[in-house]
Order: sequence, then structure tokens, then C-alpha cells
Amino acid sequence: MHLRDFDNSDADYRALVELENQTWPDTPTTVEAQREMAAARPDIRWNQRVCEIDGSVAGFGSCGEAFWLGEPGILHVYIVVKPALRRQGIGSRILRDLLDRAPTTTMHTLNSASREDQAGGMQFLQTHGFAETGRDADSELDLAEFDIVRLAETCKDPSPARFRPLAPLTESCADWMERFRDLAHRFQAEAVAPEPLDKPSPRQFAEEHLNARDFSPYLCWIALDGSDWIGMTELRASADDNMAVEAFRTGVNRTWRGHGVATALKLHAFGSAKAQGFAKVLAYGDPNSSIGHIHRRLGFTFQPAWVGMQQPLPSSGR
Ligand SMILES: CC(C)(COP(=O)(O)OP(=O)(O)OC[C@H]1O[C@@H](n2cnc3c(N)ncnc32)[C@H](O)[C@@H]1OP(=O)(O)O)[C@@H](O)C(=O)NCCC(=O)NCCS
Repeated sequence: MHLRDFDNSDADYRALVELENQTWPDTPTTVEAQREMAAARPDIRWNQRVCEIDGSVAGFGSCGEAFWLGEPGILHVYIVVKPALRRQGIGSRILRDLLDRAPTTTMHTLNSASREDQAGGMQFLQTHGFAETGRDADSELDLAEFDIVRLAETCKDPSPARFRPLAPLTESCADWMERFRDLAHRFQAEAVAPEPLDKPSPRQFAEEHLNARDFSPYLCWIALDGSDWIGMTELRASADDNMAVEAFRTGVNRTWRGHGVATALKLHAFGSAKAQGFAKVLAYGDPNSSIGHIHRRLGFTFQPAWVGMQQPLPSSGR
């Protein structure tokens, strides 16, 4: 077994793509896509290694800073081994090699991920001391099958809460923008806690939220208790599929939680997306969160979840 640097040759890219497509056949990649990704984000792979056995590629390993997690000092590792050569210690050898070269003075945490249907990837990470940090899955609701009347009968009655699309409220409610900005900010801040989140100025909110290309007041629904705004849900037209909307943000005031308000908001929003001619709703998130449970109940089907895994970087001394 011999380890060397990835040399950016077509041969290395072709071998990587072949192995990736054997491992993840439902999300095929190409040499061009891999080259583009490497050019767009050179910091994704600080160190990329190739494992060869008798001159043929047996596996790849890469590591780089997990910039998408927004916290410095987290090193992400990814390893893939040719399916026919798994369970022979190759993945462990690649991991050791990556760790031997890791900049442990600036990095404190080792991060990785696999998908729940990759038994080998999940077991491998657990064996090497990683623990789960969270999971996220793509999910989809087929609006042709979505029957708002039948579903509403099986859900809690959230009255006296009432539900309105945002569009007519922009006419009838003088301070609608302030109310909407307040709800959107509070639920976004809760989602990113404990990181503090500055409230956008009215101008910033109008520019970044209301004027966003995919924002539509006909795809936002507001829950009201009398004249109080107590919750919201927002769908946005998908940039990749003009028949789809994406679940963007949902929140309900704490005192109103547990009364079926979020489910009712979603029923209304999905019903209006269907009436506007959309064919499906797409979502991405934790299938075990409260929103995940609501989506399952309303008929979403879930793809296997990606499972984030971490451990303290073994030699960082933290
Ligand atoms: C993860 C992966 C790289 C492991 O490669 P590998 O060469 O098979 O790993 P190793 O042989 O070094 O396995 C080390 C240990 O992990 C555990 N393990 C690995 N695969 C396993 C499996 N399918 N079932 C149960 N345990 C497994 C075992 O404890 C194994 O030790 P053992 O064989 O002595 O029992 C390989 O399964 C793979 O390419 N998976 C798809 C890509 C992926 O999910 N990568 C994410 C991880 S970064």
C-alpha cells in the first residue's frame, strides 16, 4: 500500500469520479464538476491523498477547514475506498495519514459525515471515535397527492388562531413590514442560537428579504391571535425547478407552541402553492426536528439523512 498526493491529472480525477459514482450512484458526478469545485473552493481540500495498491487506485482521502460550519479550527476529513477493497484497513490507513499531516496547532476538532444508508461509512466513523452532531435530509411533498381537507381533519384545531397569506395583510395592516421583520428575525435568531444575530434594519430587511428574487407574499402565511401576529411560514420558488417551492422558514411564538399552529400554517401554505400551480414542496433539515415530524405527518417522503460526526482532534490536547 502506497500513499501519495493527488496530482490533479485527468487520470486521478477519473479514478476519483469512478469511485465516487460507485459509492454515491444517486448523485453522480463528473471530472468537470470535480475540477470546477476544486477551482471554486481551493480551501476545500488542503491535503488530498491517493492510496494505491500495486499501482492501482484503492482509495482517496482529503481534508480541509470546515468553513461552512462558521467556526474556525474545525478540520473536515473525507475518505472513500473502492467497494471491493473495503474492510481491509485501507480507510484507517488513509485517516492516519491525513491526521499525521493535519495542522494540529490551529485545529481543535475533527469533523466528518456519512449518509445513514452507508453502513460502512457510519461504522467506520464510530469505530474511529466520532460521535453524531446532527442529521439533515432532503424531503419532498408531492402536491398532487396533497389533500388539505383530509389532512386538516386529522390535525389539531388551532382556533382561536386564524391564518392569512401575507399579501392581503400588506394592504390591510399599516405596520405589516415591522411585524413581519420582527417575526422573521426572532425565528432566524432562534435557529442560529447561541450565536447572536443582529436584527436587520428596515431597509436591509426590505432589500435582502422582501426584494429577494424568489420571495412572494402569496407564499407566506401569517398566524394571528386577534390582531397579534403569532407565527409565520414562508415558501420560496426553487431556483432549480420551476415546478417546486422550498420550505424556507417557519416559526410560532413560544406561548402558542403545541397547539397545531405550525401544522396549520404549513397546510395553508402548501394548499396555496398547489393552487398556484406548483407540483411539489422541497425541504432540507433534521428529520427528527419538530418541523421534520410535521412534514412527515403531512406526507413528505425523506431521503436518507446525512449524519454529521465530530471528535476532538486527537493530538490537539483539548
Ligand atoms: C468509510 C470507508 C472509507 C472505510 O474504508 P475501509 O477501508 O473499509 O475501512 P477499514 O477497513 O479501515 O475499517 C476500519 C473499521 O471500521 C469499521 N467498519 C468499516 N466498515 C464497516 C462495515 N461495513 N460494517 C461494520 N464495521 C465497519 C470496522 O470496525 C473496521 O474494523 P474491522 O474491519 O477490523 O472490524 C468506506 O466504507 C467507504 O468508502 N465508505 C463510503 C464513503 C463514506 O461513507 N465515507 C465517509 C467516511 S469519511
